[in-house]
Amino acid sequence: MARRALLTGGNGFIGSHILAQLLDHGCTVCCAVRTQEKGDKILRDFATQQSQITITIVPDIVAPGAYDTAVQGTPAFDAVYHTASPFTYANAGSNLQFLEPAIKGTLNLLKAVKDNAPSVKRVIWTGSCASVIDYDNLVADPPRIYTEADWNPVTWEEAVNGDPSKAYRGSKLFAEREEAGNQRFVVCARQFDFQDVCDILRSHHPELSERTPLGKPGTRSLPPGAYSIDNSKVKKFLGVEFRSLEETVLDAARCMLDIERNEKQALST
Ligand SMILES: NC(=O)c1ccc[n+]([C@@H]2O[C@H](COP(=O)([O-])OP(=O)(O)OC[C@H]3O[C@@H](n4cnc5c(N)ncnc54)[C@H](OP(=O)(O)O)[C@@H]3O)[C@@H](O)[C@H]2O)c1
Repeated sequence: MARRALLTGGNGFIGSHILAQLLDHGCTVCCAVRTQEKGDKILRDFATQQSQITITIVPDIVAPGAYDTAVQGTPAFDAVYHTASPFTYANAGSNLQFLEPAIKGTLNLLKAVKDNAPSVKRVIWTGSCASVIDYDNLVADPPRIYTEADWNPVTWEEAVNGDPSKAYRGSKLFAEREEAGNQRFVVCARQFDFQDVCDILRSHHPELSERTPLGKPGTRSLPPGAYSIDNSKVKKFLGVEFRSLEETVLDAARCMLDIERNEKQALST
């Protein structure tokens, strides 16, 4: 675990979880975000660990040299975590707005580290199964089992001119292909389908039965030939132990119910 890290996208979903883990392990973290308001929100969200956090503003990750100053921390960083990348389709005006920050932002960061941050021993970049899986052919005979050796077949042409999902898949593919010289890990616990999710919810939260589809309890809804992922590499080399599907679904449900309860309370006061 790093002792002093630079984290991009620390205000995002994945980034905030990485930040929480780093802080809990005693690491000090500099969060690179687009605006001071986003940095202030991080400081509020992690109020009890504020002393371990600093904020640096990188307004445009596409601009040449965008990260050159941010990577030069004092004391120097020993690791960089890069999660900043377009993920929400709603925020993208065009496919290029998806592709450019993903590709140029990543290249800018890697170049900045190479040229200006010799203390950095490791750069961790969040890829996606989107750069691995062929989402246009999810079912096959025999079923596909994807590994770190696989790349989705999206072309640059499709990424620029196709629907937004092609832009996202392209953004992850081309950003990774440009620079993936080292280790690639696909982090995926298991195959599951939404019948499993409904069955778990209905058995633990009968009060939600009106809001949980019934489907055909106890059956599989995935078609024969549906793809799966071989996760042996991440388990072997990083020692990852995955949570059960039941724990994951129930945790997510608990969080959503908390949010709903808080929103209702806020509206009634
Ligand atoms: N969530 C998943 O299930 C999942 C699965 C696989 C991979 N990933 C990968 O994990 C990373 C983070 O995803 P997430 O789920 O945490 O998404 P998220 O909550 O939408 O967070 C995205 C982060 O990237 C930043 N960002 C987006 N567009 C940017 C741009 N043009 N310039 C600078 N910063 C930009 C956002 O900052 P602003 O607030 O300033 O926009 C935010 O900090 C992405 O690389 C994504 O591909 C996510």
